[in-house]
Amino acid sequence: SRSIRLASIPGDGIGPEVVAQGLKVLSAVLPQDVKLETESFDLGARRWHATGETLPDAELAALAEYDAILLGAIGDPSVPSGVLERGLLLKLRFAFDHYVNLRPSRLFPGTDTPLAGRPDIDFVVVREGTEGPYTGNGGSLRTGTPAEVATEVSVNTAYGVERVVRDAYERAQARPRRKLTLVHKNNVLVHAGRLWKDTFDRVGAEYPGVTTDYLHVDAATIFLTTQPERFDVIVTDNLFGDILTDLAASVSGGIGLAASGNINPAGAFPSMFEPVHGSAPDIAGTGRADPTATVLSVALLLRHLGYAAQAARVEEAVEADLAARGAARRTTDEIGDALAARVSG
Ligand code: IPM
Ligand code: MN
Repeated sequence: SRSIRLASIPGDGIGPEVVAQGLKVLSAVLPQDVKLETESFDLGARRWHATGETLPDAELAALAEYDAILLGAIGDPSVPSGVLERGLLLKLRFAFDHYVNLRPSRLFPGTDTPLAGRPDIDFVVVREGTEGPYTGNGGSLRTGTPAEVATEVSVNTAYGVERVVRDAYERAQARPRRKLTLVHKNNVLVHAGRLWKDTFDRVGAEYPGVTTDYLHVDAATIFLTTQPERFDVIVTDNLFGDILTDLAASVSGGIGLAASGNINPAGAFPSMFEPVHGSAPDIAGTGRADPTATVLSVALLLRHLGYAAQAARVEEAVEADLAARGAARRTTDEIGDALAARVSG
């Protein structure tokens, strides 16, 4: 019989609250014969305060044995900026070679967004996940003096760019509109920009059915808000993708709905699914966090593991729930219960 071994990293702030709802919906949607084994890993701010550890090697090795990881949120104001981000979240993305950071945007019915009432918004950002300015390549000279020089070098390898560009073409080819847009800034970042554009054009020759387009990142932010329907699949580097996907979330339903997958396509390592939002310490424990982004991340997880029908059920449940949402405010738990009821009903 089939089984899923899932590691969860609830993390900080609202992370544990939303992960609980994600797991609730996951168990409700899985067929009876699929055995779900979950284990929770205690990582994040509490652990760091208690032991000084962010992600010990033993736990990294243990996580590597799972089929997938569900992560809530990482980060707390009591921990210096960057400690958990670099030492835990980015360490996982790098160690498990999550080079495809998949971030879909859809305008769901009944959502309050600046674009409500606009025609179909349904695009996906393929954000590179292991390179760019995220590698920590750089340094500072004469630190803390008026003569300080700080550099943060963006690393772009032919290998790294080609594999993510190829993945984006594959995804574009599988979608009805078959359009792929490269976003970069090759009028200024000429070295990395040339590598990305040349790779995009060369690989594109193998995908004659895919329409291509190029936009500088600044122009892309304008089009994302004024003509979001022009996008189908977007491929871009790690930092541009970080910024564009927050913008995409805010225009297409709010950060409470934005899901993501940190994917290692070949499956050499477990892929990791997480809401795009952060730990929101200001509302932690109040029951006000919207678990929908985590539940939609569970849908991405299901699809990645080959449970396409179940993934669609989860997405349909979210759509129906959003359409039915009135002004009445529900708690995190109530939204999770409603979604679990819809997927099992
Ligand atoms: C995200 C987050 C992370 C990123 C931070 C927390 C390191 O903003 O997942 O988008 O920049 O990738
Ligand atoms: Mn971000």
